[in-house]
Amino acid sequence: MSVIDNVLSVREQHRAQGEGYVLHGLAAEAYTSAEFYKLEQENLFAKSWTFVGFVHELSVPGTCVPVEVAGRPLLIVSNERAEIGVFHNVCRHRGLKLVTDTCNVKGSINCPYHAWSYNLDGELEAAPHFGGFRIQEVPGFKKEETGLMPVRFALWNDWIFVNLSGDALDFDEYSKTFADRIQLLDTSALKPIGKIDLGEVKCNWKFLMENFIEPYHVPIVHDTTAAGQPLKDHYTISDGRCLGSAVDLEEQKDTTAKSSNLDMSARYLTLFPNFALGIYLPDQAGVHLNIPIAPDRTRQFRVLYSVGDQNYTETDKQNLCKLWYDVHKEDHHIAELLQQGRSSPVMRDGGLMSPHWEDSAHAFQDLVLKAVAG
Ligand code: FES
Ligand SMILES: [Fe+2]
Repeated sequence: MSVIDNVLSVREQHRAQGEGYVLHGLAAEAYTSAEFYKLEQENLFAKSWTFVGFVHELSVPGTCVPVEVAGRPLLIVSNERAEIGVFHNVCRHRGLKLVTDTCNVKGSINCPYHAWSYNLDGELEAAPHFGGFRIQEVPGFKKEETGLMPVRFALWNDWIFVNLSGDALDFDEYSKTFADRIQLLDTSALKPIGKIDLGEVKCNWKFLMENFIEPYHVPIVHDTTAAGQPLKDHYTISDGRCLGSAVDLEEQKDTTAKSSNLDMSARYLTLFPNFALGIYLPDQAGVHLNIPIAPDRTRQFRVLYSVGDQNYTETDKQNLCKLWYDVHKEDHHIAELLQQGRSSPVMRDGGLMSPHWEDSAHAFQDLVLKAVAG
């Protein structure tokens, strides 16, 4: 039996019970197998709207940010008018990956192999000596058709999404339930105040997403950083591609974005597959960028936002970055242990999940399976 057939059949065996009954997780192979990971890359990440980056990082013309989706090298480019474009990060001559690190290329993207150059709109400007010394023309070679290959993308607030296959639903339709759920956030007032590079986490990307979605662990794993968020005030949210949880504190302390803890009402919402937004009322937000790099490895960044004008000192910003770094590391520790647990035969059938606290994480797993199974 193939890996995907096995994961699906384990799920099917567990599906018979109804609402309120104990739920079951995904079979361990969904987190460990190279075959399942490859199917996810092809059937899920290449065909969905995958979150890849932040608009504010491309405000200067000429900025190039290389990213990878489903194993394909892509390039986000800010053109002369600071408009964003997304292309395959591959030279049209011999296929060299053009840009390896975030940089400003000034006016043109130059290939280091044979010096072909592209303007910031991806058009091929020069193919020096391609037809002979000081000759670019070659019969059958059309420069105007040899620009960087574009990739379908969508900009939404500060966030950049790509759809490699080009045939996903229109982004507004795809993200509708999520957009409806975050109406309490004034996205026009978001101001980036810091970025944390959380490095490589030794776990499958789904563990980080599931952990963000479910509130069951919060008072235990974050017993100091989120001591003011009691379990009783939490509930889950499951609405199409918008999965997550929320906490509405009965007793809201007087908190502002400069708080050094998470004692505030909050929303933890994901847009399937890899976009995670935390809203901390009244005036903080944060977005995680989770990039799968192997079945058991995920790269993670977080951008912190204030909502509205706050007068942050450098110390305020450093304190907030420190708080969030600590919160993420608490989650990483757990997610890495989950990964290790998946090598045990005990977890072949996926373990148990609470129908009360982990139903939205379970719904996330269903979306994964549906996408992977095609
Ligand atoms: S591969 Fe880019 S110029 Fe030859
Ligand atoms: Fe957590």
